[in-house]
Amino acid sequence: MKLVQLIYISTATQQHDEVALKDIMESASQKNEPESVTGMLLYCDGNFMQVLEGESEAVEATYSRISRDLRHKDIIEVLRQPVTQRSFGHWSMGFRAIRPSELLSRPAYAPFFDGGFVAANLGAQPSLALEMLQDFGLSDREIRLS
Ligand SMILES: Cc1cc2nc3c(=O)[nH]c(=O)nc-3n(C[C@H](O)[C@H](O)[C@H](O)COP(=O)(O)O)c2cc1C
Repeated sequence: MKLVQLIYISTATQQHDEVALKDIMESASQKNEPESVTGMLLYCDGNFMQVLEGESEAVEATYSRISRDLRHKDIIEVLRQPVTQRSFGHWSMGFRAIRPSELLSRPAYAPFFDGGFVAANLGAQPSLALEMLQDFGLSDREIRLS
């Protein structure tokens, strides 16, 4: 079994209100659960950042579906790495919408956002990017596996 973690960023193609985001989250967690794909989706001012983790084939299939989704564009992969254990094992897909000010007020994470997520800076510090996803994921908005 080969476990991988993949992080990408993207830009929303439409205004995402609560209903539209809930719709994405529902289809995500429904599909991820049977495939044992776990992760976290962050939404900030029209931009997405998502980490997917699970068995290599399941993550590739999920990422390829997500890449074809017209609800977002400019998809950039910032990390793809083999891992020995999951960081988001308890979520079929956690979710959090944050304001840019929330992100920029934390000095360690501020370089990661400049109108949109900054691929180069995220890719240069992937462990910090993962830490940020975990940090912001600790809210009451996540959709849990059980
Ligand atoms: C930002 C974003 C994140 C998404 N995350 C997931 C996900 O984690 N898992 C998933 O199965 N679908 C996710 N989706 C939805 C997929 O793109 C796709 O609509 C869904 O899997 C249904 O695919 P199908 O119509 O080919 O069956 C996401 C879509 C967007 C826009």
